[in-house]
Amino acid sequence: MLSAYLTQLIADRGARSAIGESPRVALTSKESAMFARRGPWLGTNDRYVRLRRIEALDPVEDCREITKLFYEDFGSVMIGQLAPSLMSTYAAPRMSRILASSGELQHRFTKRLVDTLLLHAQMLEHGYSPGPGREAAKRVNEMHRQYDIHPDDFVSQSCEATVWPIHLAENYGWRPVTDIERRGLTEYNLLQGKHFNVKNAPETYEGMVAFRDKYLDDHCFFEPQNRALADSTLTFFESMVPAPLGRLMPKFLLALTDPRIVVACGYKNPGPIARRIAGIVLKLIGKADPVRDGSPDFAAELASKIYPDGWEVQKLGTHVKAQQPQTH
Ligand code: HEM
Repeated sequence: MLSAYLTQLIADRGARSAIGESPRVALTSKESAMFARRGPWLGTNDRYVRLRRIEALDPVEDCREITKLFYEDFGSVMIGQLAPSLMSTYAAPRMSRILASSGELQHRFTKRLVDTLLLHAQMLEHGYSPGPGREAAKRVNEMHRQYDIHPDDFVSQSCEATVWPIHLAENYGWRPVTDIERRGLTEYNLLQGKHFNVKNAPETYEGMVAFRDKYLDDHCFFEPQNRALADSTLTFFESMVPAPLGRLMPKFLLALTDPRIVVACGYKNPGPIARRIAGIVLKLIGKADPVRDGSPDFAAELASKIYPDGWEVQKLGTHVKAQQPQTH
């Protein structure tokens, strides 16, 4: 499931470091001096340099690079991506029943999150030709094969991973989003989808918006496990921020989430004032964008806590064997 914001955050540090090597968290003084000398954005002092590079790229051939640059440029507003995207998978009982049955999200949330981010980061950083990116896709496919996942649910997640980050950047970002970025993210998620055997995904951004919309209308409704999954997610985000601010975190995240998802997860839909305040806060957070080259990040720190001795793609995620029928 896509979770591209933190994915991107650790793409730089977790995925760039060699497999098995512990991701670094803080810049060394030498690195800081180097970035200060060269300029903070792609080694320049031009805040628009990533956009200029994006505009020079081909949206199909270079979709992966466009997606990476997009996430770097809007890194701060993407704080509104992870929880709402995860909750979109809990809101549809066809998905939440499977997710709840594995127990990973309720009982090992941090590991589940970190592994997801590391695997996504490998794909985004290295692509799908032989190497760590393809290995990561293979690992994810092995996990998915253990479950009976409906093809439309895969499509819905490809659409969510495209539409939601664009929505956040368009509404709360520091600069307008361009057509090439919409197209680039669409193509990247289609490419990823091909490697996950996602069939019949819409081929345009507008098609993805329409699919997501209809999917939320048709498939999202309350069942108790939706709420259990969402509670464990919001509790995690609450714990990431010191009290008393932490207590506001679930309210903030719910106020950024699509009302259909909020209600299907069993929460009261935040009213227009709460949504307005959350939007203003996210806009203020977004003022830190464009994210500077080599910025330290909390996700890399999380990964280094869980895997102080490093990690390997093959060992990430779950290794559940398919249930064999019992013979007597
Ligand atoms: C294009 C869409 C999707 C992407 C990119 C994706 C990505 C991922 C990733 C990166 C992991 C690894 C998590 C870990 O390391 O623990 C994972 C695991 C998993 N995914 Fe997906 N996924 C997608 C669609 C779905 C859908 C539609 C379902 C339906 C319920 C699903 C259910 C699972 C399950 C059950 C696991 C195993 C871990 C667990 O038990 O929670 N995924 N997926």
